[in-house]
Amino acid sequence: MIELYLDTADVEKIARFNACLPLKGITTNPSILANAGCGLNQMLAEVSGIVGSDARFHAQVVSQTVDNMVGEAKQLHALPYDVVVKIPATETGLAAIKKIKDKNIPVLATAIYSAHQGFLAALCGADYLAPYVNRIDAVGMDGIGVVADLQMLLEKHGLESKILAASFKSTQQAMAVIKLGIAAITLPVDVTEQMISHPAVQPAVDQFTRDWQGVFGDKQSFQS
Ligand code: E4P
Repeated sequence: MIELYLDTADVEKIARFNACLPLKGITTNPSILANAGCGLNQMLAEVSGIVGSDARFHAQVVSQTVDNMVGEAKQLHALPYDVVVKIPATETGLAAIKKIKDKNIPVLATAIYSAHQGFLAALCGADYLAPYVNRIDAVGMDGIGVVADLQMLLEKHGLESKILAASFKSTQQAMAVIKLGIAAITLPVDVTEQMISHPAVQPAVDQFTRDWQGVFGDKQSFQS
């Protein structure tokens, strides 16, 4: 089954969607945590209390050098949660990924804007690859095409890295990559809302209620 993540640190929204969706966990980045005004330790504690102790967290390093990224990854890995360390797939980041994978720490290569960049991160041993679908579209390229090419490259070369597609602004973008059979996806809150609340659904349900109550009043189905 595809791994489903929410791309947010909004605890109320996480609780709301955890109640109705089979969330694997949460993805964050430094911007998400900064905008929420919520440090990583607070977020991990609160969200694991909601999603459960088996929740998986993808948490990004903020270090700028290979050695510091490796040190930060070790610290993140030592936390008492299922943490996958997010490393930007830059030249520095790829060097860090190689060293971090030598220590068997789970890694997600993030900020992927092309299939070739993701392919190299996979060769370096990244467990997850996060192509930024909407951000790729926003710079005039084809985000869904990048995910399709990357998926094909992984299959052709027998690489075990999982695509965790990220950065969505529409349900159409999300559906297009889900159809490709990717292993994981992280959705922002607004796209998640759109996926479960088509405007025609509630009126249809309300009509069922009116029709039922018109004949059977407050009875439940098994009482009729
Ligand atoms: C992955 O976790 C990325 O950081 C994130 O999905 C980027 O999304 P955005 O383009 O909506 O900021």
